Amino acid sequence: MTEPYDLILRGGTCVLPWGLEQTSVGVRFGRIAALGVPADAAARETFDARGLYVLPGLIDPHVHLRDPGGEGVESLPTGTKAAVLGGIAAVFDMPNTSPPVTDADRVAWKQAYAERDSWCDFGLYVGATKSNIGELAALERMRGVAAIKVFAGSSTGTLMVEDDEHLERIMRSGHRRVAYHAEDEYRLRERKSLFKLGDPYCCHMDWRDPEVAFRATRRLMALARRTGRPAHILHMTTAEEFSYIKDFRDIATCEVLATHLTQVAPEVYERLGGYGVMNPPVRDARHREAAWAAVRDGTVDCLGSDHAPHPRSAKERPWPSCSSGLTGVQTLLPVMLDHVHAGRLSLARLVDLMAAGPAWVYGILGKGRLAAGYDADFTLVDLARRQRIENSWIASPCGWTPYDGMTVTGWPVATIIRGHVVMRENEVLGTPQGRLVTFAG
Ligand code: DOR
Ligand code: ZN
Repeated sequence: MTEPYDLILRGGTCVLPWGLEQTSVGVRFGRIAALGVPADAAARETFDARGLYVLPGLIDPHVHLRDPGGEGVESLPTGTKAAVLGGIAAVFDMPNTSPPVTDADRVAWKQAYAERDSWCDFGLYVGATKSNIGELAALERMRGVAAIKVFAGSSTGTLMVEDDEHLERIMRSGHRRVAYHAEDEYRLRERKSLFKLGDPYCCHMDWRDPEVAFRATRRLMALARRTGRPAHILHMTTAEEFSYIKDFRDIATCEVLATHLTQVAPEVYERLGGYGVMNPPVRDARHREAAWAAVRDGTVDCLGSDHAPHPRSAKERPWPSCSSGLTGVQTLLPVMLDHVHAGRLSLARLVDLMAAGPAWVYGILGKGRLAAGYDADFTLVDLARRQRIENSWIASPCGWTPYDGMTVTGWPVATIIRGHVVMRENEVLGTPQGRLVTFAG
């Protein structure tokens, strides 16, 4: 090669699809041009990656950026800034905004906004409602759309499709994988009267009990089997679901959240009160162990944060009037690297769950692997760095993290998207460079 590279990452330990290798990576035109670049190759920019691990740009396929409607706690620019600070190269944003993203105009608005103001690459979900079913097949083909999202049970916002008849009609409209919030609305309504305002925060996991989640997943698996439409169960939490889904791997994939691998009940509710409340809830150690077993045995396809900022005032209200949802896009990788350090999963499995996994689940083109021809997205990490996570580090305007005060080992040092270094040493660099993610289908 006689032309200089645009960028060379020199001497890092690269997590390649075929294993770890200390090698230099050359970037041209925003793509990986070559691995094993020789020491004397010319480049416009060089990044000394010695001592660091070079991962494919990691993807958080589950964030709620609150834009439009909740910009005071999070916006598209602040949430994507938080992402790159946390070593995340692309996020997929949920549709339960105010107003929700449920039609072509709102998708077009978010496409243009992301292309102007996103710090990382960007995908978006379209919310299914009982009245937009006829448009879903066209909506899922719009640029940057990661999937149709269905809330089968009520959570934050107004989106919900709870009954089998409408769920089946959604599955018969379009063909790409549909992402589900799997909690059974009927059981939630039945159980609500068992509790009262001011009950302890840990009642959240009794109201939204394991059967609430398992029943929804059973119904969705039956419908997916009947219609043949691929299903993705977001934030799976129960031992029963991890076991059940094994019989549906021809049509179903699933996600686990770092929160459900890390936090445990009842301790989380005693320590954090409303700041531990989310849907589906943090459960007891039996379910957390089942989630880890599912990570280890390959049942889990991808990891997410379910980054869901709320104002402190809403988190501090008595249960159940406190808002559900925890921040997480910025802490997802630090917390997972700490699990790597503790030996709970390998670095290779972490990368599989945060790069190749989402690429498979959502049909991402050109991302998810560190290989020639792919987008030059990289997450550089220092596996030995010990750092304390603090509220003051959080870029989201809501200003809090459930991990405040936790010291982790392993830290993101740089985030690079399509050859642009957008974060280095806890500093966001340049101007927003985000583009819409491209999907197959
Ligand atoms: O806890 C949650 N918060 N679960 C959800 O499904 C939605 C999210 C939010 O948007 O606040
Ligand atoms: Zn969510």
